[in-house]
Amino acid sequence: MKYFALGIESSCDDTAASIVSSDREILSNIVLSQVKEHLPYKGVVPEIASRAHMNYLDFAIKQALLDANLSLDEISCIAATGGPGLIGGIIVGTMYGKAISSVTKKPYIAINHLEGHALTSRLVENIQYPYLLLLASGGHCQFIAVLSLGEYMLLGQTLDDAVGEAFDKVGKMLGFDYPGGPAIEKFAKNGDHKRFKFPKSMCDRKGCDMSFSGLKTAVRTLIIKEIENLSKQTINDICASFQFTIAEILKYKLSEAIKLYEKIAQAKTIVISGGVAANQYIINELRNSLGGSDYKLFSPPMNLCTDNAAMIAWAGMERFLAGKFSNLDFCPKARWSLYSNPVISVKAGTHVIDL
Ligand code: KG4
Ligand code: ZN
Repeated sequence: MKYFALGIESSCDDTAASIVSSDREILSNIVLSQVKEHLPYKGVVPEIASRAHMNYLDFAIKQALLDANLSLDEISCIAATGGPGLIGGIIVGTMYGKAISSVTKKPYIAINHLEGHALTSRLVENIQYPYLLLLASGGHCQFIAVLSLGEYMLLGQTLDDAVGEAFDKVGKMLGFDYPGGPAIEKFAKNGDHKRFKFPKSMCDRKGCDMSFSGLKTAVRTLIIKEIENLSKQTINDICASFQFTIAEILKYKLSEAIKLYEKIAQAKTIVISGGVAANQYIINELRNSLGGSDYKLFSPPMNLCTDNAAMIAWAGMERFLAGKFSNLDFCPKARWSLYSNPVISVKAGTHVIDL
């Protein structure tokens, strides 16, 4: 039997809806970016984001159904991001998800946004559990042992800025629009990564905890020093040197993460996901660093690295197939750790809590 999951994503500045099937087909994938709304503020303004989700989500869901050529009756479950993220948007998506579930009597599944990123690769490739995940986004930078659905072990994480956040802050210092990551990758292509030497924080330490705020401060200090000669070439060189340093830190920390992961699991699979995984330079550097080892590195296609609802629909599908549903009294969460993800199952139409 083939099933269809409707996914809703509204935890930051993308209003997204998507439908995926149980046999890994993405039937529709609508992402309505709010970049223009937030542009004048050089960052995401939570109140503007909530209002934009209110305005766009209805259209996104209808369009996702149209593109998939499906009616709500044909949908098997409704999965909506329940956190973590900006609470206004999460409330909007959660209420839509619950309302559709109530009307259609189809199961509602609250998805942890990080679980969405963690499982995306399984939507596009036949990747088996367990695997080692580097989740690198605007809000997170974590190494995680993904053991099975809902079973995640944190191996290490940034102690301060997320890696995407460092890209965004450096981008802002250089006058780029938000988000800074894609612009830095573009300008770095014409830059000399050896021109500026930036600190590789915590690379003299074992374990895979990371830190990016010292690097960000070093870039700021350099920009202030070079402000009089901030030529196009200097900007390119700063981008290249910064991006090179990030890749060096991630390469070392990946090797440390592998040591920890090997104490827990054997499967030689590494997945990189989250918005920073859209950076082809970083992906190539990490892949090359694995050299002749048995490890295979996967990352989702670029449009599934950054926020989207296909990843939420897919996580919903995995939970649906495993009978792991959410109660309609689920409370949207601004903070929601992936590592204490309660499983609530609905059996035969009645809500039974199964923690
Ligand atoms: O996963 P995502 O879309 O949203 C969060 O859950 O945070 O990630 C967004 C982050 C932003 O910080 C953005 O600058 C970064 O991903 N990003 C990139 C690239 N594309 C997006 N960072 C580096 N290089 C890129 N090409
Ligand atoms: Zn994300």
